[in-house]
Amino acid sequence: MSAETDREPCAAKRGPLPIGRAELDSESGPDGGHTGSSATQPEESLPPLTDLNGRKTAALEQELARLRRENLLRTRRVMDGPQGVRPVVNGRRLLSFCSNDYLGLAAHPAVVDALHDGVERYGVGSGSAHLVSGHSEAHQRLERDLADFTGRERALLFSTGYMANVGVISALCSRGEHLFADRLNHASLNDGAKLAGAKLRRYPHCDVDALERMLGANGATLIATDGVFSMDGDLAPLPELARVARESGAWLLADDAHGLGVIGNGGRGSLDVLGLDDREVPILVGTLGKAFGTFGAFVAGSSSLIETLIQRARSYIYTTALPPAVAHATSAALALSIRESWRRDHLRSLIGRFRRGAAALGLPLIESHTPIQPLLAGDSLLALEWSQFLESQGVLVTAIRPPTVPKGSARLRITLSAEHQRDDIDHLLSLLARLPRRQHASMRSKENA
Ligand SMILES: Cc1ncc(COP(=O)(O)O)c(C=O)c1O
Repeated sequence: MSAETDREPCAAKRGPLPIGRAELDSESGPDGGHTGSSATQPEESLPPLTDLNGRKTAALEQELARLRRENLLRTRRVMDGPQGVRPVVNGRRLLSFCSNDYLGLAAHPAVVDALHDGVERYGVGSGSAHLVSGHSEAHQRLERDLADFTGRERALLFSTGYMANVGVISALCSRGEHLFADRLNHASLNDGAKLAGAKLRRYPHCDVDALERMLGANGATLIATDGVFSMDGDLAPLPELARVARESGAWLLADDAHGLGVIGNGGRGSLDVLGLDDREVPILVGTLGKAFGTFGAFVAGSSSLIETLIQRARSYIYTTALPPAVAHATSAALALSIRESWRRDHLRSLIGRFRRGAAALGLPLIESHTPIQPLLAGDSLLALEWSQFLESQGVLVTAIRPPTVPKGSARLRITLSAEHQRDDIDHLLSLLARLPRRQHASMRSKENA
């Protein structure tokens, strides 16, 4: 969303918290117990299975039963046909508000054509790791495109965003060093600290004062933050974090998985919105499976940073390169995303329409001006009940529950796409107005996220 969408990042120090957000200070070393696959790694984690008992299968079943009982069991839906706002789910066409395909490029004909063309040229598999014989001309070109797009010397492709974060953190932090991370960061940023054996210290969400207090005499090797927070949709206070990083001599890493392509001029993300450059935020992580509609991820930065990652990032070195045809298609998607600014403009107008409508209904939205518009339920069962009600009406919005979000902050993570029309938003609002407000204990839980 171009200049007119510029937003204040979340207040560096907050007043009262929105409903149900666990924002406790915490410290967790490499063995500190924040395990699991959660997106934001709240303090609540899955118990180690070895604690259950020696009978392994029984132990697994016992734990699964607990998750089911507590409405925390996650299940998958089977999608048929291309990604889009009207997918076929379990044989039924639904109106979807829960994909990260923010610009509607995942099944765009030009991107599909580019993938076909890439397969013709390069075949399917890359055959090996980048450092062996898997690095093709298509990867090289996409890295150049991404460096140009982000205004940095170089970019390095990773197979996923998870691997990019784990790779960059484990390459730059050593055992015992301190990594400071926003409490609502994506799980992969925390997992990188574990791989490195670094000490992970999580500061309350967007609370720069608390970060400074925690930094104290310790010093930090790296401060890591989401640019746009994946489950809340708000922006990190990057200018303040850049100041703290400069003063403490730490690297600053921004993972802008949900900002790039979506906000800022030409979709240049949170840093563009906040007027920051590579001196202030030297490490920029982006993903390609969200707004750009394809797959993969990258780190952009100085030549020396990228060369270091090539030498040291284990999740770069010890894995097969992503298929070159995907890189080829991503170059086309990136160009399309920059060129077709109407997608960001349209998205911005849909976000405004949704927020105005939700405010009129008195719905508990989080302060977010990105396509991520979470509706807090608090309780997991209530979030499931909301999701099931919407699905019964033909609308797909998955319930997001702990441990993906902190305990007590289960929600519908509503996401908007440039493929939505105004009528779709109005239809969603008309259903949200009818959401069950109370939890019915008798309701049979049918887990879905
Ligand atoms: C902020 C953030 N970083 C990284 C990732 C991981 O990216 P990928 O899905 O490419 O592994 C995600 C989501 O998946 C995310 O939300």
